[in-house]
Amino acid sequence: MILGIETSCDDTCAAVVTPDGEILSNVVASQGLLHERYGGVVPEIASRRHLELVDAVTADALERADTSLDDVRSVAVTRGPGLIGALLVGVSSAKALAAARGLPLTPVNHLHGHVVASTLGENPIEPPLLCLVASGGHTFVARVDDPADHTVLGQTLDDAAGEAFDKGARILGLEYPGGPVIDRLAKEGDPEAFDFPRSLPGDGLDFSFSGLKTALLYRVRDLGEDEAERRRADLAASYQRAIVDVLETRARQAIEQYGVSRFAIGGGVAANSEWRARAQELDAELWVPPMALCTDNAAMIAGASRFQQPMPYPDYLSLDASARPAA
Ligand code: KG4
Ligand code: ZN
Repeated sequence: MILGIETSCDDTCAAVVTPDGEILSNVVASQGLLHERYGGVVPEIASRRHLELVDAVTADALERADTSLDDVRSVAVTRGPGLIGALLVGVSSAKALAAARGLPLTPVNHLHGHVVASTLGENPIEPPLLCLVASGGHTFVARVDDPADHTVLGQTLDDAAGEAFDKGARILGLEYPGGPVIDRLAKEGDPEAFDFPRSLPGDGLDFSFSGLKTALLYRVRDLGEDEAERRRADLAASYQRAIVDVLETRARQAIEQYGVSRFAIGGGVAANSEWRARAQELDAELWVPPMALCTDNAAMIAGASRFQQPMPYPDYLSLDASARPAA
């Protein structure tokens, strides 16, 4: 069995996955409420909370999988990208657990974890496939020919789609994280009430969401505080519609350009109800992950490690976390 640990942002996660991809447990201790009062993740607070939670979350993952460290054959951990202090807690903890038992350790790229999430769970999809990952920190469309790797075909030039939800929610005076709140509020609003820009930069498959966020800011200013509050559901619905339109357009273009008929969505924004429904209309065999595999989790990290060469003990003792994507 593989024990996975993920602490790249504000969720402390541990999971137990079998070598053939069955998820035996997938535990997430969310720190959302802790950061809500600041309107975003505070890195130092996140690191400290990871430190307090990581042992208990790991023990919980083993218990829920009805197993113990005796049955763990390798440990997988998110090496990066993410918040460096937060990553260090997971990497140190995974190294300690693995080293104490002389187990191999696999450092995993967080983004590849989001991609591989699509090969886990019930009815997993097999490469070759295209995958659109939209999370709080990243948004990209990738081609996956082999589960060990992915090639980025286009990515955001500024804000990530989840970031657009979070910043938009803040402008609308809603709490953090903004995605789920806008998703809920949008159901009561008119998605055509306001016309927001759909930015499709360049000739390729890149994304840009910062102009959209600015457009919302100006619109709220023009309306004035009271009117903006009264029309909050319409603003949320129109804003969400603009984001989902862009995701759908890039997905359609990727399918057309690359002629790959299998498509997976992933990342926290794949939990969005409008995006999940719209993705169904794509001209492809679609894989929409269960909610627990959309947002950050350790099952995707343990899952991704299955396709990588693990580092034997004690080679990984000098392994470092890496805040940058090139990990
Ligand atoms: O993948 P994730 O858990 O963490 C990162 O790697 O960033 O994604 C978190 C992001 C947040 O920006 C959050 O607002 C967004 O996913 N999100 C959603 C929804 N649920 C989470 N965005 C839109 N609709 C949702 N239902
Ligand atoms: Zn993520």
